[in-house]
Amino acid sequence: HAFWAVIPAAGVGRRMGADRPKQYLELAGRTVLEYTLNIFIRHPRITGLAVAIGAEDPWFPELSIRTDKPMLVVHGGEERCHSVLNALRALEGQVSDDDWMLVHDAARPCLGREDLDRLLETLEHDPVGGLLAVPVSDTLKRGDADGRVEQTVDRSGLWRAFTPQMFRYRALMRALQTALAEGATVTDDASAMERAGHAPRLVEGSPSNIKITSPADLALAGFLLERDRA
Ligand code: C5P
Repeated sequence: HAFWAVIPAAGVGRRMGADRPKQYLELAGRTVLEYTLNIFIRHPRITGLAVAIGAEDPWFPELSIRTDKPMLVVHGGEERCHSVLNALRALEGQVSDDDWMLVHDAARPCLGREDLDRLLETLEHDPVGGLLAVPVSDTLKRGDADGRVEQTVDRSGLWRAFTPQMFRYRALMRALQTALAEGATVTDDASAMERAGHAPRLVEGSPSNIKITSPADLALAGFLLERDRA
């Protein structure tokens, strides 16, 4: 079965407070989105890409992306899950029901080749699929409305959900459609699959695969990309 990258890149990134969405900020001469797309363009096992961008996005056409792989570009939606669903719909007819979709946040440009290889190797014969994740290492507190500790939460068995999240085309599409139709909040692809009764596999990844959210994350991503290039 083929592997396709599905890249939601239609967020506005308000928490960054920049003049453009965070996926279009530059790190050492390249935009975050260029780094992210190149990871999948360069990987020999990835057949093609589907990218969801904002309806009014003057930046995407300015990127310099060179690839012989098919790359579909569609408009995203209100939330991440709508953007993913739009990208999946655009692939209808080009992929088979059991092809693997690797949904990866545009805002995670530091995904390493080892993590991507481990994900593919661990899950390619799995009936459900799964996601890169990292065990929680901080102590967790539940706070009350006044900002006082109500409880220390046992962190054993807790993971941070990263991307790529890898599921089969038809199963993922159905799970997302159902979740949206039922008005559920799904902040990642795995949670839609969980609602549909599946148990996605957790594949331990590197904590360096950060999602850029704040200016501090951007600085850290710059450092990590430089380090990996050296
Ligand atoms: O906002 P957050 O960082 O959680 O978004 C995760 C990813 O989903 C980002 O790459 C962002 O561009 C994308 N996204 C999207 N469509 C939306 C909201 C977010 O494609 N409506």
